[in-house]
Amino acid sequence: MQLLDPSLLKSKPFINGKWHSTASTQTLTVYNPANQQALIEVDYCRQAEAEYAVLSADKALPHWAGTTAQERAGCLQRMAELMAEHEDDLARILTLEQGKPLAEARTEIRYSASYFQWFAEEAKRVYGDTIPAPSRDKRIVVTKQGIGVVACITPWNFPSAMLGRKIAPALAAGCTVVCKPANQTPLSALALAELSLRAGIPAGVINIVAGDTQGIGQVFTQHPAIRKLTFTGSTAVGKRLIADCASTVKRTSMELGGNAPFIVFADADLDAAVDGAMLAKFRNAGQTCVCANRFIIAESIAPAFAKALAEKMALLQVGDGQLANTQIGPLIDQAAADHVRALVQQALQDGAQLIAGDPDSGKGSAFIEPIVLSNISSDMAIFQQEIFGPVVTLATFDEEAEAIQMANNTEYGLAAYFYTQNINASWRVADALDFGIVGINESAVSTEVAPFGGMKASGNGREGSKYGLDDYLEIKYRCYGGIV
Ligand code: SIN
Repeated sequence: MQLLDPSLLKSKPFINGKWHSTASTQTLTVYNPANQQALIEVDYCRQAEAEYAVLSADKALPHWAGTTAQERAGCLQRMAELMAEHEDDLARILTLEQGKPLAEARTEIRYSASYFQWFAEEAKRVYGDTIPAPSRDKRIVVTKQGIGVVACITPWNFPSAMLGRKIAPALAAGCTVVCKPANQTPLSALALAELSLRAGIPAGVINIVAGDTQGIGQVFTQHPAIRKLTFTGSTAVGKRLIADCASTVKRTSMELGGNAPFIVFADADLDAAVDGAMLAKFRNAGQTCVCANRFIIAESIAPAFAKALAEKMALLQVGDGQLANTQIGPLIDQAAADHVRALVQQALQDGAQLIAGDPDSGKGSAFIEPIVLSNISSDMAIFQQEIFGPVVTLATFDEEAEAIQMANNTEYGLAAYFYTQNINASWRVADALDFGIVGINESAVSTEVAPFGGMKASGNGREGSKYGLDDYLEIKYRCYGGIV
C-alpha cells in the first residue's frame, strides 16, 4: 500500500493509548473488494481484549469527564485538522479496504472530519437550566453530564464517517469510547486511532478492537461499565443488540436499515429529479442506508424519467475505485453482489422488466453494472428489502395519496425523497411521510449540521447536529432546599 505516511497503516488493536498485542496469534484478513486480494492481516481480538478496552475506557473516564469543554474541543479540532492533513492517505486506505472510488473516499474523510469539527464547537454549548421552584426555600438547577463509557459498533459502508459521527459527540460530551469497526474495514478506524494519539487525546479515551464479533458484542452489551451502545447496521442485528443491552439497562442509539422511497410527481423538474436520483441511488454503489431503494414515479412521466435516467446511467464508469475515472466501485464482496443479482433475478421472474443494465455482468466478482427494472409492484422482495446495490426499481402511481401510501408501506423510516414544484404538496407530502429524513427536491441530505436518524424499524436516536449530543448526555436535576 503506497502511503505518504505509512505509519497510518496499523494492524494491532488500539487499547489504553497503545498498539496492543493480542493473546492469540489468530488474525483477520482484510481484502480489497476490487480484486479480492488480501491487503493485510489484522490482529483478531476476543473477549479478553474487549474487556481490557472497557477497563481502559472506564479508567480514563474520570479524567476525561473532568476536562473543560474547551480542552475537549481542542482535541476534537486537532483531529479534524489532522484528518485534513492526511486526507490522501486516509482516502487511499478507505478505497482499498471498502472499494468506493477515491473521490468518494475523499468526500467521506471530509464528512468524517466534519463531525469532529462540529462537535468541537458543540462541546462548548452543553447548557443546563434553572427552573422556578414550587416553594420559597428551594432552588432547582438542571445540569448535563456525559453518560459514561460508550460502546460504538460501526459498519463497513462508511468505515471512517460512521466512527467519526459516534466518537466525536461522545468525546465532546466527556465520554470515553470502545469501538468495534466492521471486520471487512478495520483499517480506517485504526488510522483514526493513530491520529487520536497525535491529537493528544489521552490514553484510554478511544479504544478500538476488531475481531470476534459475537464475543466483543457480548462484552459491549453486557459489561456494567458501559452505559450506552451506539450501532449503525442492519435492523436484525440492531434488534438483538437492544435486547442484549436490556439486562444492564444501557441506553442505545440505533441507526438501522432503510428502504427509501423516491417519489417524482408529474409537475416535478424532470432534470433535477433525474440528477437527484443518480446521487440518491449510486453513492457508494448503492450501499448506503439512505440510498433511494424504491422509485415511485407519476404514471404520466414514468417513461420519460426512465429514459433520462437510463441515459445518464449508461455513462457511469464501473471499476476499481483506485482508478481516476471510476464512479461505481465494487460491492463490499462477492456474496453481497450475488445477493443483489439474486434479488434482480427474482424480480424478473415475478414480472419486472429489464430496461437497462445486464444482471449477469461481473458474475464471479463484486462488480455490478447499474440496472433499471420497471413494472415493479409493492409485493416484490426487491421493493420490500434494502437492495444495497446499484439497482433502480420503478413503480408508478396516479394520485398523491397512493404515492404516500406506497412510500409509507414499509417497516423502515429512515430517509425519503420527493420531487414536485407544487409548494402546497411539498409541505403536505413531507408531513405525511413517516421518515426521519425527508429530501424535498433534494437528495444530498447527509451533513453534520442536521439530525441523521430514522423512525420505526430504522432505529432510534439522532446523530450530528445540536441534537446529536443529547444521546451522550445524562440530565441531572439538583434541588437545593432549606434556603432562607
Ligand atoms: C449510512 O449509510 O449508514 C450513512 C449514510 C450517510 O451518512 O449518508
